[in-house]
Amino acid sequence: MANAEGRVIAVANMKGGVGKTTTVVMLAEGFAEAGWKVAVVDLDAQANASYCFAPDEELKAILEQRRSVTSFLADRLLYGDRTSIADYITPRICHVMKAGEELAIDMVVASPRLRLLEREIVLRLAERNFGLRSLEGQSLKVLEEALGLLRTRYDIILFDCAPGISAFTEVAIRLADMVIVPTIPDYLSTLGFDAFRASVWENAHITRSALPQPRRRPVVLASRVNAGKIQHRDTLLSLREEAAAEGAVFEMFDVAVNNQAAIERAMDPENFPYAPSFEQKWYRAVDSVRDLVSETRRRLDG
Ligand SMILES: Nc1ncnc2c1ncn2[C@@H]1O[C@H](COP(=O)(O)OP(=O)(O)O)[C@@H](O)[C@H]1O
Ligand SMILES: [Mg+2]
Repeated sequence: MANAEGRVIAVANMKGGVGKTTTVVMLAEGFAEAGWKVAVVDLDAQANASYCFAPDEELKAILEQRRSVTSFLADRLLYGDRTSIADYITPRICHVMKAGEELAIDMVVASPRLRLLEREIVLRLAERNFGLRSLEGQSLKVLEEALGLLRTRYDIILFDCAPGISAFTEVAIRLADMVIVPTIPDYLSTLGFDAFRASVWENAHITRSALPQPRRRPVVLASRVNAGKIQHRDTLLSLREEAAAEGAVFEMFDVAVNNQAAIERAMDPENFPYAPSFEQKWYRAVDSVRDLVSETRRRLDG
């Protein structure tokens, strides 16, 4: 065990397509390769991270056994069952190999029903004259308790959050020791980051009294960077300046993740019908994964 108590990272951004799921998969496999016990919790109804680890038939089988975050939240929030998150975990979901063994990654997958479930819970609560705040408050309690158990079993727990602002994303951000915000260094993405940061970290008191403040400032990770683009280089520089200034409202990773074919390839399970080694899977991006993991480790301790 690398830590006595597991650490929690939420990877979030209001914008889609910025590399959230990619960051989660890189961190999960990178930390597992470094010998950490990893749990991934998929909070996105698109279930991209789930498909990455358990393509098609495998995910179907897992969902048929009701082992998903959707079933967990439905059982706890809709049906009031006192079930434990442990019953919804799929062990050893990753088939990437190291020294003859699969990487130690367990996962609570998501299903497309997650989005509907959120609506259903809001409607049920509304019937009883409770609102969104009540959903957030109850989700906070349930996920906090789940994390209590996960922290004793894993060295690191990664939340892959949905784009937009979902109640479950809001809660994961509050419970995390660190929130990583992958951001493409272009104009629209930085605008999006600023709106996201302001709505969660600054204006929380206006709308969301049920939730505590996030524990620390968001940490921006420049993602899908095209170093040949002047706009990317300039935006990256100004983001770094802003993060280094006194009273900065966010932190920023020194490493940046370049847009590279090896990463796109690694994210499609169809490219790996066999169980690849960690090096085979990440190929030319293997150093990007290791660099991201070592800085994340440093930032978790700092
Ligand atoms: N560094 C990268 N290099 C190349 N392709 C990337 C990179 N990061 C993400 N992608 C690709 O971009 C798309 C969106 O990434 P994804 O991680 O799914 O974003 P999000 O989870 O924020 O919606 C995916 O097709 C993914 O393979
Ligand atoms: Mg995603």
